[in-house]
Amino acid sequence: MELRVKQAPRIEAEITVPGDKSISHRAAIIAALSNGVCALHGFLPSEDCMHTVNALRALGIGIEQPEPDLLIVHGKKRVLTPPKSEIECGNSGTTMRLLAGLLAGQTFESRLVGAAPLSRRPMDRVVEPLRKMGADIVAEGPEQTPPLRIRGGSLLGIHYRLPIASAQVKSAVLLAGLFAKGRTTVDEPSVSRNHTELMFNYFLVRTAKGEDGAVSVFGDQVPESRDFTIPGDLSSAAFWLVAAAAQPGGHLLVRDIGLNDTRTALLGVLVRMGAQVREAIEDVDQLEPRGIVEITGAPLKGTVIQGKEIPQLIDELPVLAVAGVLANGTTIIRHAKELRVKETDRIAAIAHNLRSMGAQVIELNDGLEIHGPAPLRGTRLSSFGDHRIAMAFAVAGLFADGETVIQDADCIRESYPGFQKALDELVNPKRIRTSTPVIGSLVPTSLEEG
Ligand code: S3P
Repeated sequence: MELRVKQAPRIEAEITVPGDKSISHRAAIIAALSNGVCALHGFLPSEDCMHTVNALRALGIGIEQPEPDLLIVHGKKRVLTPPKSEIECGNSGTTMRLLAGLLAGQTFESRLVGAAPLSRRPMDRVVEPLRKMGADIVAEGPEQTPPLRIRGGSLLGIHYRLPIASAQVKSAVLLAGLFAKGRTTVDEPSVSRNHTELMFNYFLVRTAKGEDGAVSVFGDQVPESRDFTIPGDLSSAAFWLVAAAAQPGGHLLVRDIGLNDTRTALLGVLVRMGAQVREAIEDVDQLEPRGIVEITGAPLKGTVIQGKEIPQLIDELPVLAVAGVLANGTTIIRHAKELRVKETDRIAAIAHNLRSMGAQVIELNDGLEIHGPAPLRGTRLSSFGDHRIAMAFAVAGLFADGETVIQDADCIRESYPGFQKALDELVNPKRIRTSTPVIGSLVPTSLEEG
């Protein structure tokens, strides 16, 4: 599929976005381990999350989906059954790494396989700690890459220091820790998203947090079944937030969005760049804060994004690079080497696409130096098979002369089904009432009259 984008009229909209991807994976897994039936509302029915759902089904868990965003999960008190065949993770690194942790706790053998891009991504980061806990786990690919063959059971709790901040690795170790003897502790060089820890707490699994930020889980616990409502995904809203921020006078209100402070660093960066941002938490009852974000665009200025901020906006960096090219001055992204091992090498992909649109960009080993503001020209761009590259450059297309064509854009379905519809509505505000994600939008006066 090709995505065609033209320049956006002034954005004046009120939207919601589909459920959070990270939380959807975790909610399905922890509900499956629980002692009863859990209704998960606001579930993200994207390709990545459905790989996790289908993997859990293959492990003997009954999961109904009466509506696309509603899962009814029949928890089986941590009892999983051996899968009949290998488990397909598609292109979902979260599925593969979290399931590796879960399967490390099972006595049967399983094999996790992925599509070609996932099969190039590093798995040594989960193999190492899970082996230390006692699992027999092998990355069968040429460079500690997938498939993963796992035979677990009889795990012992460990204290593991993550060499790099990674919520996927932290979560794999904590999930294995549920099946381990004693206490399993993880600390990381800087804080990554904490959804697994919060969800354990919500499902009444005992955890502990050290003064240094280390997180522990105690083995042999069964999550208590509960219903849960997943908030909207800030990483999906990020595309529209950046689009509005970069349009002086643009205005966007996003409702029912996850505002967990390990995920909201994007908002701080947009404020630094000159946008006006209002954030209001409306509900923390289910431990994951949710609320509204309102943004008013301005002429943006360049900024530096680095250090502890990086893990808390890692998925937003492609679209922030686009904000950088629209801003006055230089934007520098550093300490983001992890971008090289995402769905594609995102540093190389961003640099390539920005240059194709006419921007001046220097590729750093661990980031990018972007010189703005650049007059962008519409052209044909590759998604590099990466959903966030495809969506970030659709946003760039909203600011480019002529038409921007994103080739090979099917990958967007991995995280944001409905993206194209939402994009069409922003670009053609007269057609707004047809879509699910946009819950209301004001047509700019001049268009209303025309
Ligand atoms: C995720 C963690 C991040 C992020 C990914 C989802 C998660 O990866 O990039 O899209 O759900 O735990 P890392 O933990 O590898 O940094």
